[in-house]
Amino acid sequence: MALDGKIAIVTGGAQGIGLAIARRFLQDGASVMLADINDAQGAAAVKELSPLGKVRFSSTDVSSRLDVHNLVAGTIEAFGDVDILVNNAGIVHTADFLDLNEDDFDRVLRVNLKGSFLCGQAVARYMVKKIKDGGNAGSIVNMSSINAVVGLPEQIAYSVSKGGVSQLTKVMALSLAPYGIRVNAIGPGSIKTQMLDTVNSDMAAKQRILSRTPLGRVGEPSEIAAVAAFLASDDASYITGQTIYADGGRLP
Ligand code: NAI
Repeated sequence: MALDGKIAIVTGGAQGIGLAIARRFLQDGASVMLADINDAQGAAAVKELSPLGKVRFSSTDVSSRLDVHNLVAGTIEAFGDVDILVNNAGIVHTADFLDLNEDDFDRVLRVNLKGSFLCGQAVARYMVKKIKDGGNAGSIVNMSSINAVVGLPEQIAYSVSKGGVSQLTKVMALSLAPYGIRVNAIGPGSIKTQMLDTVNSDMAAKQRILSRTPLGRVGEPSEIAAVAAFLASDDASYITGQTIYADGGRLP
């Protein structure tokens, strides 16, 4: 199996795309630490996924340096190593540019961009030390969005944060390439999760998405998980610094 014996951290792993990634990683042979701010959902996810392999939950706010430190330390304590990080935790806020307030802008940037930085740096520092001691290299996968390039006027902070995630991916990849650590991102289109329901609650919005998506349907979380599994695996051994769009053909 592609991820046999690997140890992965999946942030925002309690539901949606993160949960699907955790499921796929377990099916591919990895052990998984789910990291999420939602403890109840995290416990339910562990219960659901346990039959597939070794899975644990760490109560983590990715925007807190202390929580992130505890997440990495807790994963090493539980599983003995970290080979893969998926920076998937994210939030969205809907407001036009002229109405968006400072607190909401900060909140979205803190979770989506700073959270990816904090987790990425903490895991990369551990990986670099391990590699210097003769250990194996690892892979980091960030969760961007097509909004990183198209930019939605009603989701200013979100679009900015995801543009930042794609650029963070590029610079992390350049910094970590000398160690053999690969860093890539996924840019999903519209994927069937609670986040999509929150943002596009009415029928007209759903129709708008479908009319802009050449494949004529929204994506399944498992279709993003398949991309994450590929990027995390040795099959992607010559790919780093890229954002791979999985969007049903939506980007030109
Ligand atoms: P979701 O809302 O279903 O799940 C997000 C998860 O992140 C939740 O379990 C939530 O508790 C967790 N989370 C939120 N804030 C956190 C924090 N501070 N620390 C730790 N965990 C936190 O969302 P979904 O759709 O599964 O999104 C996952 C990722 O995919 C996000 O980064 C999102 O921006 C991205 N994405 C989603 C798309 C979609 O259409 N659903 C499209 C493009 C990107």
